[in-house]
Amino acid sequence: MTTPKRQTPPTTNKHLIRWVEKMAELCQPDSIHWVDGSDAENEILCQKLVAAGTFLKLNQELWPGCYYARSSPNDVARVEDRTFICSHSKDNAGPTNNWEEPVQMRRKMKQKFRGSMRGRTMYVLAFSMGPVGSPMSQIGVQLTDSAYVVVSMRIMARIGLPVFAEIDRDLKRVVPCMHTVGAPLAPGQADVPWPCNDEKYIVHFPETREIWSYGSGYGGNALLGKKCFALRIASNIARDEGWMAEHMLILGVEDPHGEKTYVAAAFPSACGKTNFAMLIPPAGFDGWRVWTVGDDIAWIKPDATGQLRAINPEAGFFGVAPGTGASTNPNAMAALARNTIFTNVALTPEGGVWWEGMTDTPPAECLDWRGERWTPEIGKETGRPAAHPNGRFTAPARQCPSIDPDWENPAGVPISAFIFGGRRAHTMPLVYQSFNWSSGVYIGATVGSETTAAAGGAIGKVRRDPMAMLPFCGYHMADYFRHWIKMQRQLDTTPRIFHVNWFRKDKHGKFLWPGFSQNMRVLRWIVDRVHGRALGKETPIGWTPRYQDIHWEGLPFAEKTFEELQEVDRAHWKREVMGHEELFLDLHDHLPPEMIYERELLICRL
Ligand code: OXD
Ligand code: MN
Repeated sequence: MTTPKRQTPPTTNKHLIRWVEKMAELCQPDSIHWVDGSDAENEILCQKLVAAGTFLKLNQELWPGCYYARSSPNDVARVEDRTFICSHSKDNAGPTNNWEEPVQMRRKMKQKFRGSMRGRTMYVLAFSMGPVGSPMSQIGVQLTDSAYVVVSMRIMARIGLPVFAEIDRDLKRVVPCMHTVGAPLAPGQADVPWPCNDEKYIVHFPETREIWSYGSGYGGNALLGKKCFALRIASNIARDEGWMAEHMLILGVEDPHGEKTYVAAAFPSACGKTNFAMLIPPAGFDGWRVWTVGDDIAWIKPDATGQLRAINPEAGFFGVAPGTGASTNPNAMAALARNTIFTNVALTPEGGVWWEGMTDTPPAECLDWRGERWTPEIGKETGRPAAHPNGRFTAPARQCPSIDPDWENPAGVPISAFIFGGRRAHTMPLVYQSFNWSSGVYIGATVGSETTAAAGGAIGKVRRDPMAMLPFCGYHMADYFRHWIKMQRQLDTTPRIFHVNWFRKDKHGKFLWPGFSQNMRVLRWIVDRVHGRALGKETPIGWTPRYQDIHWEGLPFAEKTFEELQEVDRAHWKREVMGHEELFLDLHDHLPPEMIYERELLICRL
């Protein structure tokens, strides 16, 4: 091994410096680059990515500061079957996570990482999840051999010198994150635009708070601050410390008098989470605004007064591009108009990007996400979309017109309600409110959503996805329910809990609810319930609005349709409870008693 080229580390933390040296010995990179996070450094890294063929600089008049990338076709999404929670005991990981014995897994990771960065640079990327210096933030250092990851993490997290300074203050434990694309280069070997490895491992050691990610350069597999740290590892830290790491958007609803109410909401994928986080109120809501704090992850802690407060640990949006357009989400379109990295979408002849749903009319011709010629005719013939269904934009959150003035408040924003939702053609009403905290936790624990074409597998089958955390909870799912139940003991004001479903269909298969901006009507009822201003009706499943409890100005909506939308069909609900049981059977020996009793109560009421 040649000694890697040296650069004076921008930290005095001896543990960190020693760890970097030790990991460099293991991975054998050609050089080590301590990332300062500056504009100048970013410019150089982007140029390097352009030279390597990973990036293409988009037409700067149309897309200022934007770059375009195509991943390898075998590296396009998170790999849940290759994701491991390696706790000391298998029981701690629970039946919903993959587990391997940690000593063996650590040995395997050492083998995989040995020499894995040969011919490449090892970047030392210090990052803060949450505003630098916030008591609610957490710090990680990712060692990675991917410049694409560095420039993407620069958008998604706070990185570089201010974080090294925070590490030097020595106030917080640093989470070590190892990442390699697993594609070492022999001397003189030419690189490929998207290096990765067919074999992938996304490994978490919850007790030692470590992440080892091997073989992928994409999204949640590689930007380790996001799903790996901010959800899987953070859910463990949160349980130990008495707070919550949730797969939730955070938004603030401002009424015409300036009163602001913040809610956090969890939806499984393909339920329009980013659209909801950036909602623009429809006609009939003069003076109302919805403010975005985050679109994917929330860290939520009780403050000294027993009020839950939330931060968005991220600094950017890693959003699914297909389906995002000026008519469905103008705020997202404004956020991604500049300084954005696009991956696996289509490239237009004028050096711009396109994806299904961006505009009504597709471009006459473009290159698809694989780089092949695509026209609407070819698309129709072959059934191939121009953009990959999981094609992404990586955009700075501060560019979003609806970004909340308090989105970087180090103390977070006060949370008054939790909303759970899923994609359900039947059974689930548009909105209902739980009777209390434990029945609300039951609602979250039993969230189900129908699988869509984009997710693969059987279409329309209800998959249970508790609190939308199925792939992200870093310990036993039933212990996580117990943690939710226990959280209430720390609270003086308990947030109200709701369930929504924008996707109910009539007997002809037509959506009953228009969705998108009209969801504001539901949000307003939720906010009014929180403040004790709106009435509702008691049903076997919870409180539901009556027709007259919803603000209808600007939307002619028949009372009969609303009744259909809100119907609680006892026969359907009995089947629904059987579906809850399927999940609970697997979790049974850890389930908190509240979940059993809530289920029994629900059955009795039905
Ligand atoms: C995401 C996801 O990418 O939940 O946010 O898969
Ligand atoms: Mn997500």
